[in-house]
Amino acid sequence: MEKRLADGSIELIQADITGLQVDAIVTAANSGLRGGGGVDGAVHRAAGPRLLEACRSIGGCQTGSAVATDAFNLGQNGVKYVLHAVGPVWRGGTQSEPNLLRNAYATSLKIAREKKCSSIAFPSISTGVYGFPIDKAAPLALLTCKEFLESEPGDLLRIVFALFDQATLETFESALNNL
Ligand code: APR
Repeated sequence: MEKRLADGSIELIQADITGLQVDAIVTAANSGLRGGGGVDGAVHRAAGPRLLEACRSIGGCQTGSAVATDAFNLGQNGVKYVLHAVGPVWRGGTQSEPNLLRNAYATSLKIAREKKCSSIAFPSISTGVYGFPIDKAAPLALLTCKEFLESEPGDLLRIVFALFDQATLETFESALNNL
């Protein structure tokens, strides 16, 4: 499913994000940038051990923000950057989780623009181990992308959501229909 907007597009697919040919791949990292399981494990495996070294030299990243590194072995697919976005752990919704999630997406988009990327792929940040309810996370993720494309004029940006499982894809599809 795809929605075209003035300054780009939002596409939803069911896929392993590490197989995509985009300028920037976003991973759902922790604030220590220590690597992990889930999508972060898959991205680190695909990029190779130099990714963790690059993360170590950066040191960390605040929740609700993102940092860029080289894509290392993912460069073989044409990927230029890995963006390490740190979403919030869900604590019931009263600890600014929605804002922090939106900021993790928005910072990634801003970095992608600064680095002149024409395409970026996101996973569903925070909705795995971090427990953010998917029915709340999907509309926030999509609204943040839509507002970015509408309010930050620039070159066309193709935004792809690589969603791992069918249920997550379906929740994003219904949120995109209602956007
Ligand atoms: N491609 C795309 N999406 C994936 C992949 C993959 N290869 N592997 C897992 N996912 C999906 C999960 O199914 C989930 O929908 O990514 C989404 C986010 O789940 P997590 O990876 O658990 O991310 P998050 O909830 O943000 O938790 C982050 O987990 O691995 C650690 O280092 C990471 O501490 C951090 C925490």
